Amino acid sequence: MLKIKPLSGALGAEIGGIDLSDELSAENFMRIRKLLNEYEVIFFREQNIMPERQRALALSFGPLQTHPAYDTVPGYPEITILESSADKPTKIEVWHADMTFREHPPMATILKSVIVPPKGGDTLWASMTSAYNGLSYHMQSFLDGLTAVHEFSSGFRESLAEEGGRERLAAAVAANPPVRHPVIRTHPETGKKLIFVNSLFTTHIEGMRQKESDALLAFLYEHITTPEYSCRFQWEPHSIAIWDNRSTQHKPINDYFPAHRRLQRITIDGDKPY
Ligand code: SIN
Repeated sequence: MLKIKPLSGALGAEIGGIDLSDELSAENFMRIRKLLNEYEVIFFREQNIMPERQRALALSFGPLQTHPAYDTVPGYPEITILESSADKPTKIEVWHADMTFREHPPMATILKSVIVPPKGGDTLWASMTSAYNGLSYHMQSFLDGLTAVHEFSSGFRESLAEEGGRERLAAAVAANPPVRHPVIRTHPETGKKLIFVNSLFTTHIEGMRQKESDALLAFLYEHITTPEYSCRFQWEPHSIAIWDNRSTQHKPINDYFPAHRRLQRITIDGDKPY
């Protein structure tokens, strides 16, 4: 019997009563998919699963993606390592959805904690569905139909600026030219509309002067961080988060330096936003 504990008014729920190290029955998988559509991000605690199981769990949602820039778990090219330590602090700072620089951004992400700092290092999520619903009808109508450009090079500009960064990431840049996505997309499963621009990868809105685009994006980036659209999760070792990468954005809270934090992430292939 699944136990569901909602985390906030907008999104997020902790799910108990399930062991993810076992292969999921078709019934339990359908329940999890339904909960993901309902809560947009779901969390599980005390799930000490091996990379093989994290991969199998992700595969039950669909084909997996690989990341062009991150290190991966040996033997598992789809599992990226997100690690921050005293000698190599994290570079992930801002609100974002994962890999929107792709023509087909991930539909979902499964993130597992391996090493958590003694304090701090929580992650925030925000519901882009709630953020869209919080806009006035006039603003919704104005944004509907606009298209934005998303770029790998924008999200990885710091890494590209490092010594040797251009050479190291040359293949990733070449393989990921700018892509266009609607500013407001429709969720393919729930049919709900949501905001689909983010401060990591979106460079501009097409058909607007740069100043107009910058001002509009700045407004949206501020709007999506409204506390009422968010939830916060405190990691323990072997926690798992599964989020809908179409309808949420997230941001790690980098308040634990120089402590060590390591998470392992898989992204599941999504469709072309419309
Ligand atoms: C991510 O941005 O995908 C990871 C979030 C985190 O490190 O908490």
